[in-house]
Amino acid sequence: MKKISCNTYDIHINNWDAVNEYITRGNYSSIIIIVDENTSEHCLPTLAGTLIQKFDIIEIESGEINKDLDTCKGIWETMIDFGADRHSLCINLGGGVIGDMGGFTASTFMRGMDFIQMPTTLLSQVDASVGGKLGVDFNTYKNLIGVIKNPGAVFIFTDFLDTLPIEQIISGYAEVIKHGLIIDADAYYRDRIIRDFSNLDWEQIVYDSVMIKKSVTDDDPEERGRRKILNFGHTLGHAIESHNLDTPTHLLHGEAIAIGMVMEAHLSFQKGNITEQEVNQVKASIIEIFGHQTDRIPDMETLNSLMSKDKKNKGGVIMFSLLEQVGLGNYNQEVSLENIEKAVQFYSY
Ligand SMILES: NC(=O)c1ccc[n+]([C@@H]2O[C@H](COP(=O)([O-])OP(=O)(O)OC[C@H]3O[C@@H](n4cnc5c(N)ncnc54)[C@H](O)[C@@H]3O)[C@@H](O)[C@H]2O)c1
Ligand SMILES: [Zn+2]
Repeated sequence: MKKISCNTYDIHINNWDAVNEYITRGNYSSIIIIVDENTSEHCLPTLAGTLIQKFDIIEIESGEINKDLDTCKGIWETMIDFGADRHSLCINLGGGVIGDMGGFTASTFMRGMDFIQMPTTLLSQVDASVGGKLGVDFNTYKNLIGVIKNPGAVFIFTDFLDTLPIEQIISGYAEVIKHGLIIDADAYYRDRIIRDFSNLDWEQIVYDSVMIKKSVTDDDPEERGRRKILNFGHTLGHAIESHNLDTPTHLLHGEAIAIGMVMEAHLSFQKGNITEQEVNQVKASIIEIFGHQTDRIPDMETLNSLMSKDKKNKGGVIMFSLLEQVGLGNYNQEVSLENIEKAVQFYSY
């Protein structure tokens, strides 16, 4: 059982009593729980068995494809049917899709009701549920429509990871490694050697990782500066993720970010920030955990065109968040196309 206090809210890890205390204190007019078919099956029974208050359930279909305004419309309509109002509470029980979309629908319904995040994937526990970014995809643009608003609280239960498919665990683990690389070298050296995910002290790993994300988002909630260090691995990673979107076996977010981290660690090496031994170690451990996915890398032209659409670009210049050293990230780093080509080759061979 652990607790992390952020600027405006608390994050509780493995504390069911805190859930009921929070809800009792809020004296809400009604409670709505948003789930998808997987969290309805695997997580809702535990939550329902613990809540002492009455609640209604809104179930949506899982998957990023459903993180859109059509699904929001359905959620808002059901909230109206349930008689929800500004004094209701919305509990988002699910991965990042439910957290982002449930938080967005709650914070816009009647100009905003209280909501809490109950993240059930590793990625949402260590990343998506912390920092207040909420929203949905629009047309082909990811997370285009949204707001930044902190939840009333975050309740993380690491036992929910027991039913999460291993590929989702590994995908979320990319963000755990990223957090170590950009802020906490000791956590990185501990986490990079893990190969067996079946019997880990998740409470400690999740706690350390959330502490890192929270320290950055508390400092710079609106991403004016330092929060950008969280984008390490994501400029090349997003381009690789987009390139593989329409393939039958598309890459999960973390798998793409893992490749991006190897390449962007090499960019950091080329800038003289980390040693050759350090970048080789990053590559070796990432390939051991995530495999060596050389057939997933687009040619340079495609990669550049995908990167040129990145939201972090400024005035047409592609901006990277890199490593200043192992355990310290930086941001707004300009990089030449030649450097990028070398980094891609480094991953590929
Ligand atoms: N707001 C932020 O700061 C932020 C940060 C990172 C990512 N995100 C967003 O998060 C989303 C990705 O989140 P995700 O990786 O959690 O994906 P997800 O929400 O799609 O969940 C992955 C899959 O796991 C299933 N699932 C969830 N919990 C389960 C459990 N305990 N047992 C069994 N199955 C379970 C889900 O139904 C889904 O099929 C993306 O939309 C991304 O944009 C947001
Ligand atoms: Zn990410």
